[in-house]
Amino acid sequence: MQQDIERILIPRSRIQDRLHELAREIEGVYGDQSEGLIIVPVLAGSIIFTSDLIRCLPFKMKIGLMTISRYRGATTAGGETRLVQDLNLDIRDRHVLVVDDILDTGGTLRVVLSQLALRGPASLRTCVLLRKLAKAPTDFQVEFVGFDIEDVFVVGYGLDYNNHYRNWPDIAVLRPELYR
Ligand code: IMP
Ligand code: MG
Repeated sequence: MQQDIERILIPRSRIQDRLHELAREIEGVYGDQSEGLIIVPVLAGSIIFTSDLIRCLPFKMKIGLMTISRYRGATTAGGETRLVQDLNLDIRDRHVLVVDDILDTGGTLRVVLSQLALRGPASLRTCVLLRKLAKAPTDFQVEFVGFDIEDVFVVGYGLDYNNHYRNWPDIAVLRPELYR
């Protein structure tokens, strides 16, 4: 795996430091409403981020699972986003925080948020580990962002290329010849 990595963009220690800050931001925004928050990770890219983040949150919360699939070339834009497996719990009148690995064009999150909004949550907010500022749509609000990054294809810490490299512990840039 190591030979496929061109460079480390964000080392694991910086990720961990930022998670504690993010957790405090989340607590600050929800305040008294933190207790009973429902976290909805967008699978599979956000599994590692979510599992680390929620262990920094000091209040009672639940995890709601749903699976979204994006049909497209692995590193190209466009394609169709589809709900593969629906949410496993009722979010009506509950505060919901959607967690995703990366905000790129926003297509995936738009589908997730519109699906969840139909179910009458008390509030609906979004937390992403990464945001590609150059591409992220300006009309799309994300309340919590781990890191703004340049427009490069990254893997590791949950992010994949063809479902590989999710277990690489840092956020890393893949050698371009592997996907070009
Ligand atoms: P969007 O729908 O264009 O915002 O893309 C979001 C999804 O595309 C993410 O949840 C990722 O699964 C995938 N994606 C976008 N950029 C990258 C990247 O640099 N590395 C790995 N996956 C990415
Ligand atoms: Mg994803």
